[in-house]
Amino acid sequence: MLVLKKWNNQDDKPNHPPTPPKLPIIGNLHQLGSLPHHSLRNLANKYGPVMLMHFGRKPTLIISSAEAAREVLKTYDLNFCTRPSLVGTKRLSYDFRDFAFTPYGDYWKDMRKICVVELFSSTRVQSFEFVRSEEVSDIMKSIAKSAPSPINLTEIFFSLTNNITSRVTFGKSYRGRNFDVAKFIEVVYEAMNMLASFSATDFFPYVGWIIDVLTGFNTRLEKFFNEFDGLYQQVIDEHLDPDRKKPEHEDIIDVLLGLRRNENGNTRLTISHIKGLLMNIFLGGIDTSAVTMVWVMAELIKKPEAMKNVQEEIRNCVGKKGKVEPSDMNQLQYFRMVVKETLRLHPPGVLLLPRECMKHCKINGYDIYPKTRVLLNAWAISRSSEHWENPEEFIPERFMDSSIDFRGQNFELLPFGSGRRGCPGINMGMATIELGLANLLYCFNFELPNKQDINMDEVASITVHKKIPLVVVPTKYVEPI
Ligand code: HEM
Repeated sequence: MLVLKKWNNQDDKPNHPPTPPKLPIIGNLHQLGSLPHHSLRNLANKYGPVMLMHFGRKPTLIISSAEAAREVLKTYDLNFCTRPSLVGTKRLSYDFRDFAFTPYGDYWKDMRKICVVELFSSTRVQSFEFVRSEEVSDIMKSIAKSAPSPINLTEIFFSLTNNITSRVTFGKSYRGRNFDVAKFIEVVYEAMNMLASFSATDFFPYVGWIIDVLTGFNTRLEKFFNEFDGLYQQVIDEHLDPDRKKPEHEDIIDVLLGLRRNENGNTRLTISHIKGLLMNIFLGGIDTSAVTMVWVMAELIKKPEAMKNVQEEIRNCVGKKGKVEPSDMNQLQYFRMVVKETLRLHPPGVLLLPRECMKHCKINGYDIYPKTRVLLNAWAISRSSEHWENPEEFIPERFMDSSIDFRGQNFELLPFGSGRRGCPGINMGMATIELGLANLLYCFNFELPNKQDINMDEVASITVHKKIPLVVVPTKYVEPI
């Protein structure tokens, strides 16, 4: 009897994932370093693809293999489809919520549905084709005008994705008038840094808020949300003005204002819901797309054969017509492989966005309990030698006869995440990235100033950027139209 009881107890003992050695109070925080995706990969090589770490008091599961990623994002998607609340823990006064960081529940479900069905459906994305084409053409013409003076592609891509996003969302009339785009970019950057930085409240729930107050974290967070709030309110008020002329093309705010009531006339969306959605569009779309474009150009400049192949493909397809159109894109197979290979090596959200476990389950045989935060190292997974040959090398041809795609069905390549919380803006993001890059590669040839070597160092924020801005010397191949 005694033996049986002992045996039973052993069987009930939870099987925790391995944990790297911790320090008192801070736990594993000191092991993150300046590039957490690198440090976490090194630790995973030692402790395994499913590790439990402690950042302050927060137990955090680190997933670093495609197999474990499949369990979290597919098998147990429903257990892991909430996120730790970003702002819920802080005492703030703005009146809207960013739904990407909203916990799973009815509010998130409603907002997600609006995103997927109304805002980022392929029909809606296509309806903004004219915006992308005009903005890309403007940028190509301005580069042609200044060529062969050196240009900062990092700034150019950020400004392109920002202009497209602002126009799609706010409508043309807001550019350069009443609306300070430079200020807006500044606020977006500040926001990205805020979201990337770890607040003390997150890790030390009972005393952390004192640290946050003392370090000014809360004040800065509050300040940037209030700035956004002001900008959104201004644009919404202008859209609601009864004297406003009906626009030729609806923008996202028109769409959202039209959805305020459901078929029974009841409120479906409040103004504060709309502001939350706008926040997601700006924070989710501008930086991720611009960063991807920078990495594509950096990899191509580093590998001239790939640059030659991709430019030949585009130029052979387009001829001398002066621009690449969205309808040309399906013929650009090698170009698409170049973008895919770049997203493999440089997924902008290296650790995706944090998830949180809602219900006990076993991942890779380990017990995972509710409230455990989950970080998925997409960067490490897509550079793993288990799934990729020469994983550190830029080889677009690896996708030649491969069905592997980045839309969330192949767990060795997850730049957009997967499952219920996977990126809903994928079509919007890819349409901008592809049209912008294809036109740039078509219209110009590129060299680095002073024929220096390209520096590929990274810097981590909520997305991982190229540390040194990409400055190139363009020469014109064709006059852009
Ligand atoms: C290259 C471009 C982009 C990349 C690489 C990217 C990547 C991601 C990733 C990794 C996630 C988290 C997925 C997960 O947890 O499984 C995400 C979520 C999200 N993305 Fe994107 N994204 C891009 C473009 C966009 C665009 C253009 C928009 C909107 C216009 C957008 C809106 C969102 C939103 C709203 C979420 C949160 C979804 C939720 O929590 O339900 N993204 N994105």
